[in-house]
Amino acid sequence: MANKIENQLIVIFGSTGDLTKKKLIPALYKLFLKDKLNKNAPIVCTGRKNLTKEQYIKLLSFKPADNKSLGDFFRLVEYYKINIEENDFCDLENYLDKIDKKYRCKGNKVFYFSTPSSLFEPITKWIKKCGILKSGGFKRVVYEKPFGYDLKSAQKLNKIVRRIFKEKEIFRIDHYLGKELVQNIITLRFANSLFERIWNKRFIDYVQIIISEKEGVGSRGGYYDKAGATRDMVQNHLLQVLSFVAMNHPKSLSAKELSKEKVKVIKSLKRIKPTEVVIGQYKGYRKEKNVDKNSKTETFVALKTGLSNANWSGVPFYLMTGKSLSSSYAEVNIVLKDTMCHLFPKKEDNVISVRIQPDEGIAMQFNAKQPNTDNIATVLMEFCHACEFGMATPEAYEKLLNEIMVGDQTLFTSWPEVKAAWKFTDPLIETIKDKKLVFYNKGEACPKAAKDLIQKDGRQWLHVERKIKH
Ligand code: BG6
Repeated sequence: MANKIENQLIVIFGSTGDLTKKKLIPALYKLFLKDKLNKNAPIVCTGRKNLTKEQYIKLLSFKPADNKSLGDFFRLVEYYKINIEENDFCDLENYLDKIDKKYRCKGNKVFYFSTPSSLFEPITKWIKKCGILKSGGFKRVVYEKPFGYDLKSAQKLNKIVRRIFKEKEIFRIDHYLGKELVQNIITLRFANSLFERIWNKRFIDYVQIIISEKEGVGSRGGYYDKAGATRDMVQNHLLQVLSFVAMNHPKSLSAKELSKEKVKVIKSLKRIKPTEVVIGQYKGYRKEKNVDKNSKTETFVALKTGLSNANWSGVPFYLMTGKSLSSSYAEVNIVLKDTMCHLFPKKEDNVISVRIQPDEGIAMQFNAKQPNTDNIATVLMEFCHACEFGMATPEAYEKLLNEIMVGDQTLFTSWPEVKAAWKFTDPLIETIKDKKLVFYNKGEACPKAAKDLIQKDGRQWLHVERKIKH
């Protein structure tokens, strides 16, 4: 693993968008404060808006820790107006050359695509054609998710990208991989005999992965209305988390070995039958900015799948995600099989609950004796991440940007993973085309149809409330 941060020029395409404003620049700033951003790593933010550097900085409007360090940080930031056409990219080359010389970047460049995915292909071609890649030094290219719109478009895009870049230069982002508690799933499973031994169909009754969001689509209606929850969340974040939960023991923790195991999981996922999926749309969605007033886009999806392999056959995996729900949290619940002991008929399920956010941690729900009675109380044993390790754990983008700058691909998705994920998602998208949308009220925990989906199997969606909050 490389860990020295060399001088390098960071170029962001799509820098006036939400992602750059809310995540990338704040993450780079945090790295700067922690002395993890090389002082010779200028950040060239490109965008279509005609802005001066000062106007651009104003547009970012995020809360600084202190003004002095913010001023120092912004010295590294430049704004460059660009139209999405070839000629402008050829002019960009000259501009980048000058910045490169000023900071002695020796040609090292990181290109971050924070644009709509429809622009990945032309911009990739233009940066090659206009000679932006010809200087020495390393080149790294970062694509936000979703990589492609479906399998076919992803394959086409990948072909083009691979013609220009080597696999080790390509960083396909899934920011859930930057989340500490997602990474912790591997540690939990493979560093503890307590969990490793029971992590299979003999002991596990079902698994559920939930990413619930309180926010609606906000200002991202234009993108979201074409994507929907399935492309936006299932194809990537949910499948990535699922593959961490279900993978076999990898040979090592290298990017290559982890990816191999993730691909096996995604490939063995069962196709979803129409009766195993529910799609919904929150009331008021059609009135959101840049959303079609007759939109049939799903803002909610719940489904049941499973794996056809020796470890997991017969164990349902329930996934759920949606916008404008009652609360924001991401949680994996591993529900264990019953003990079959008749002494305590009223006991609750044992659950291992990994809270990805907020109140990050791992909890175990089990039954204990209530004092002075024979009754059972359901109790929690909790590991609170922040209590144990402090609040300073880097946020996903901070971590991922750092990994890009040092050139470590472990927390990124390989092409085989992306391809397998589309192979699973494409038929799912076909299936939901014929499904009736259920309309749910903003602030519902989960539409009734999604409750029915799991209840007909005698199970339920869980939200394991933490006692320890931070
Ligand atoms: C993004 C999706 O990838 O993840 C968004 O495009 C979603 O629609 C977001 O809101 C959720 O991320 P987080 O880190 O807030 O759970």
